[in-house]
Amino acid sequence: MDNSYVWPRPPINLELAENEIHVWRASLDLNKEILDRCASVLSQDEKLRASRFLFPGDRDHFVAARGILRELLGKYAVSPPALLQFQYGAHGKPALLTENGKSPIRFNLSHSRSLAVYGFARHRELGIDLEPIRPEFAGEAIAERHFSPRELEEWHTLTPGLRAEAFFLCWTRKEAYVKARGEGLQIPLASFSVTLTPGQPEELQSVDSARWHLHSFEPAPGYAAAIVGEEKDWRLLQWDWQP
Ligand SMILES: CC(C)(COP(=O)(O)OP(=O)(O)OC[C@H]1O[C@@H](n2cnc3c(N)ncnc32)[C@H](O)[C@@H]1OP(=O)(O)O)[C@@H](O)C(=O)NCCC(=O)NCCS
Repeated sequence: MDNSYVWPRPPINLELAENEIHVWRASLDLNKEILDRCASVLSQDEKLRASRFLFPGDRDHFVAARGILRELLGKYAVSPPALLQFQYGAHGKPALLTENGKSPIRFNLSHSRSLAVYGFARHRELGIDLEPIRPEFAGEAIAERHFSPRELEEWHTLTPGLRAEAFFLCWTRKEAYVKARGEGLQIPLASFSVTLTPGQPEELQSVDSARWHLHSFEPAPGYAAAIVGEEKDWRLLQWDWQP
């Protein structure tokens, strides 16, 4: 495996500084013992959600993603994972609740197939998105429906060999921005633009772009991912989650 895909294990005394965003990567394919451990820390409403999945594989991935989220949040919030409480924004964005209101620890997550990425920050909103690069999905019709005129124009300048990667760079950057704001598809996708040419710097062009910083990363071969964090004064640290 390419060395860029080897993410470090975190230090024992993990600290989340004000000027840091921590991104964790985790495989959601867990053995039964670890999956049971994840299930044991879920709340009643999470267990109910898990029970509604049609396919056992999807249910197990949800249980793993939430269990790992609780384990990681427990480290940052210094709380037993099972006692953490979430509140949900008007469009479903989860946030950590404390006795005094919203926690200073902010987070967001994304999962696809058996891979999950999590972002954590202190006192700053963030959004994260992950997608497998699927050339069969990266077609003209979908691009026209989701991309802004500026993005479409940039996409059309690319050779066919670059278009699938560019499509998912665009998609994950847009989605990470929408998730950072927490408003879901209330934000028209054509109302802001991101750059998408592979190898070129990532840039967000929106009415509030001064408020955010956008960063793309490749969490595993064949995947694209992006994170958008509030303000520009943060650095990214990446950790690998192991059961
Ligand atoms: C709700 C939404 C976040 C779903 O995103 P998704 O890509 O299907 O799923 P992801 O795995 O990336 O993210 C899901 C997680 O985001 C979090 N989430 C849910 N609603 C959210 C919101 N409004 N804002 C931020 N995060 C949200 C949750 O933790 C959720 O995981 P969980 O419920 O299993 O814990 C939303 O942005 C959406 O529906 N997007 C539509 C996709 C689209 O058309 N994108 C166009 C891009 S060009």
